[in-house]
Amino acid sequence: MAGRIPQAFVDDLLARVDIVELIGESVPLKRAGHDYQARCPFHDEKSPSFTVSPRKQFYHCFGCGAHGTAIGFLMQYARMDFPEAVRALAQRAGVPVPEEGGAARPAEAGLAPLYGLLDRARQYFQRQLHEHPQARRAQEYLRGRGLDAATLDAFQLGYAPPGWDGLVGALGGDEKTREDLVQAGLAIARSGGRPYDRFRDRVMYPILDRRGRTVGFGGRVLDDSKPKYLNSPETPVFHKGRELYGLYQAQRVSRELDSVVVVEGYMDVLALVQAGFTSTVATLGTAATAQHLEQIFRVASRVVFCFDGDAAGRKAAWRALETSLPLLREGRQASFVFLPEGEDPDTRVRRVGPEGFRAELARGTPLSSFLFDHLVAQVELGTLDGRARLVDLARPFVTRIPQGAFRQMVEMRLAELSRLEPGELAPVLDPAGHARVPPRPAPVAPVRQAPSLMRRTVTLLLHHPEIVARAGELPPLGGAGVPGVGVLSEMIELLRARPDLSMAGVLEHFRESETGRHLGKLAAVEDPALPEADLVQEFRDALERIAHKGPQQRFQALAARARAGQLSEAETREYAELCVRLGGQGGRSG
Ligand code: UTP
Ligand code: MN
Repeated sequence: MAGRIPQAFVDDLLARVDIVELIGESVPLKRAGHDYQARCPFHDEKSPSFTVSPRKQFYHCFGCGAHGTAIGFLMQYARMDFPEAVRALAQRAGVPVPEEGGAARPAEAGLAPLYGLLDRARQYFQRQLHEHPQARRAQEYLRGRGLDAATLDAFQLGYAPPGWDGLVGALGGDEKTREDLVQAGLAIARSGGRPYDRFRDRVMYPILDRRGRTVGFGGRVLDDSKPKYLNSPETPVFHKGRELYGLYQAQRVSRELDSVVVVEGYMDVLALVQAGFTSTVATLGTAATAQHLEQIFRVASRVVFCFDGDAAGRKAAWRALETSLPLLREGRQASFVFLPEGEDPDTRVRRVGPEGFRAELARGTPLSSFLFDHLVAQVELGTLDGRARLVDLARPFVTRIPQGAFRQMVEMRLAELSRLEPGELAPVLDPAGHARVPPRPAPVAPVRQAPSLMRRTVTLLLHHPEIVARAGELPPLGGAGVPGVGVLSEMIELLRARPDLSMAGVLEHFRESETGRHLGKLAAVEDPALPEADLVQEFRDALERIAHKGPQQRFQALAARARAGQLSEAETREYAELCVRLGGQGGRSG
């Protein structure tokens, strides 16, 4: 595993990188005042609402809400993960990436020859499909399966010729390359001789990672012989549990997908894409992993699992349900389509046609129904005992769903089926008492409130982090008890240590945390400061009011307890002190 990248390195890196230059390479930016504008690369639009600020080192789209730092841009636009984005920026800046306490990571540079070879192999196979004297059978086979030339091209299908050293002969010029061919899973080592081709006389399906690099292959025989498919083994660049066949192609069609259809086979992907279902992916002969689903949910909020209607299909669907549960955060949905026995998506779409298949997808079983249908079938709902057993059976599943609207919906359904009140269900679901009573769902449109003082202050500092360095001594934030004061103190402390941080730099310190998500939203609002304002003075005033607010809130709470006669000895002392302190201040100010 990669070691952690030190925060200080990220700080320095962001200070070296220019976000305008970075984004400008992919998106045509036009100058507009202090900032730059463009049509947003993350959604379709006619007039530009995408803004990049060199001062803040931050981008933001007023249309779709996309926003982030240079690191965030690479993650969102180039679909890199965090370490990849940091490494890419470091490479631009010409600095090596240090790693804290991690085991050595095989340098990305060390993998370059493997990616290179896999890519050349993909080209070689693709060429053979058109040029090899014996490729006619493969072409006829694919045509017989109903695939047209556009689909073959889009998925870069190829042909591995018969014989033992077609590929090794074409690519494996020297000893080192032949070793790499073995490492890349393309050739099999032989003691005391040259390695030989792993894939022979098969239709070749290149497997691309989400950045479009070839990482492996599936190869299908042209008849009924076994094994039907041969896949690349796990290699330094290929992990079955991570890759999804078709995801890269789906994203070429559209970056933000509405829903993704998950099927089992290569052929299913090709048939569905050809029929117009361009967001179709397949796992590679394995059950869908959490990593697979995370990748899908990164680009789409809905996933439709499509399984055979037989026992094996139902079992696979249940496993997919179990893997999905912990990932079903706000707004994410999963549903299941069970095909008639003996059919797979490929045969089905050809039988019922695209419109018929679209209707079947739309009629899929929502995950919650699948869950309860499956559990209810195991109990006698008509009896008290059966309903108690339902709760027992459901508990391990329900408690794996993250708190939120979907979890509440499932809990309410369970309460309904077991004829318990939601309030009665909570202690049963979690006998240790950690679970909260499911709160009533929040009103759909919460009343808009004026931003709190704390929120305005944090926003001001985020947009003008230089305030801390300019302000010198600041009023102490004694106000424990005011929500948000922890974040504000943390930001001030951070900026005392790193006065040079831009907004982007501050944001990167809070990446991955709940706080970071909140700050991201505050960063994406318009700068709250008036152009002529004395920001330092404004900030000092705000801090003073916050520092004052804490004791005041505490005072009110203690006063209430005092009226109820509930003060402890320590609280009585504290109450008395606050009376003096706040009373005195109150007197002075009027
Ligand atoms: P299927 O047999 O459903 O594949 O296996 P398919 O794509 O529909 O194949 P056709 O229609 O017979 O040509 C589903 C997936 O399981 C893996 C492959 O990834 C395949 O696409 N598999 C299957 C193997 O890895 N090896 C096998 O021998 C069979
Ligand atoms: Mn099939």
